[in-house]
Amino acid sequence: PSRVTIRTLAKMRRENQSISMLTAYDFPIAEALDEAGIDVLLVGDSLAMVVQGHSTTLPVTMDQIIYHAEMVGRAAKRAMVVVDLPFPEGQLSIERSIEASARVLKETQCHAVKLEGGAEQASRIEAIVTAGIPVMAHVGLRPQNVHVDGGYRVQRDEVQLIADAKAAQAAGAFAVLIECVTTEIGKAITESVTVPTIGIGAGPHTTGQVLVTHDLIGFHSGYLPKFVRQVADVRGLIKDAAAGYAQSIRDGEFPSEKESF
Ligand code: KIV
Ligand code: NA
Repeated sequence: PSRVTIRTLAKMRRENQSISMLTAYDFPIAEALDEAGIDVLLVGDSLAMVVQGHSTTLPVTMDQIIYHAEMVGRAAKRAMVVVDLPFPEGQLSIERSIEASARVLKETQCHAVKLEGGAEQASRIEAIVTAGIPVMAHVGLRPQNVHVDGGYRVQRDEVQLIADAKAAQAAGAFAVLIECVTTEIGKAITESVTVPTIGIGAGPHTTGQVLVTHDLIGFHSGYLPKFVRQVADVRGLIKDAAAGYAQSIRDGEFPSEKESF
């Protein structure tokens, strides 16, 4: 299959096709999502929460993101792979953001970075894109701002959110991710830009949708936001498999003759 690129995504928006995006943090899951035809994989800093067990996205480091991006980049044959700039690589100097973003292209087989922020990040987005690194902007709820915002909540400042998306597009962002806004605002933002929009908790009118894979497949025990659709119980499957294995050992039933030399 030919590789999904920023041109493919732009064409999908023009032709009113929907974009599918999911997070991935390791080889086997990335391989399965890629084979399933997911268009874009995101090595999200949600890694901190759903893989590392932290309660916010803040603790994950650039080196850790790179380690996981290597695995996902190796697995993805068709999907475009986007990598989050972890806190505070997108908040310190612009030069530092370019260096961190360049590591994604030099050290992994991934294709773009994602950066939280809109209008106030415009010059940073422009500098990274000028350096040759595609940028997806992330507006609306910004999990890296959790302590300044005092928690996670639906974003409702329509004028500011539209300005953020427009500024990100003008700065050269190839797409805008919109997190946790009303359906009306998700639609209004999408209508105010020409680049693809990817929503998470942003209603059905964005160009595409993204979820955290571990939420979608039920792979962790943590809190699930309202916008998540959980379609499988992988944690339950793992627990049942492990419990059955332990029982078969206690029963003296494993290994059988067939499983022995
Ligand atoms: O880190 C992440 O998983 C994200 C979400 C928007 C999918 O940024
Ligand atoms: Na993120």
